[in-house]
Amino acid sequence: MLSEKLEAALNEQINAEFWSAYLYLSMANNFEAKGNPGVANWFRIQFREEQDHAHIFMNYVNQRGGRVLLKPIAAVETEWATPLDAFKATLAHEQVVTSLINKIYAMAEAEHDYATRETLNWFISEQVEEEETAQQLIDKYTMIGKDGTGIYMLDQELASRTYTTPAPLATA
Ligand code: FEO
Repeated sequence: MLSEKLEAALNEQINAEFWSAYLYLSMANNFEAKGNPGVANWFRIQFREEQDHAHIFMNYVNQRGGRVLLKPIAAVETEWATPLDAFKATLAHEQVVTSLINKIYAMAEAEHDYATRETLNWFISEQVEEEETAQQLIDKYTMIGKDGTGIYMLDQELASRTYTTPAPLATA
């Protein structure tokens, strides 16, 4: 059984994951409108991944006999002038998410709730990856600057990103 405190924190995290999904969907639409279809594709996949993160937490709360309570999703920004701006915002956002995950981890440790800690381990590694990827894209767009050919080539690269089901949701 989850403690009330952990159950509340996990419900907050479910909301944060859905908010992240909404943020990246907003970015996808922004870049679809601006003529960067590869960047839009990249953010649409990010949108799906964030929904997956929420699902992993929802499954876990249900498994532990807790109650998932969905709350309203706050509004997100709608305008990013360039992919570089959006990837900088992505990195800043993922750093916040990392700190939220770390807080729940510390809470689980304090309560000796090893099952929650185990579930969070996947997210700890996932956050390292998310931050690294955002940083790599910031570096690439910074390197390219305003070079049109470079922006086009990188857009093509991001257009090739495909979705894969995360391990905790994959069925055997
Ligand atoms: Fe659900 Fe991008 O962290």
